[in-house]
Amino acid sequence: MSDLCKISFPGTDYPPLTLQRHQNLSEHLTIQNSPVLFGCRTGICGTCLVEVNGEIPPPQPDEQEMLETLGAHNPHARLACQVSITDNVEIRRLEG
Ligand code: FES
Repeated sequence: MSDLCKISFPGTDYPPLTLQRHQNLSEHLTIQNSPVLFGCRTGICGTCLVEVNGEIPPPQPDEQEMLETLGAHNPHARLACQVSITDNVEIRRLEG
């Protein structure tokens, strides 16, 4: 399996990024290279709510609880700052 993962942003003009496996999105996505916005980067503000399509590990309990608090009923909803990338993914921003 490749150690590189492609991060794409369908429906936007942002070109795909390539990251190493297990890198954290919040360390590599910026306002210049992605449509994702970050606030706290520690999983408590909900600013970075996105839909992620791809094979990545499921949310930890703290992230899951925050997603429920945000009313994110989308089964692919995630907090981008808490996601560790393990595969090619498509990311769409959700309005929190
Ligand atoms: S940036 Fe605050 S929850 Fe992700």
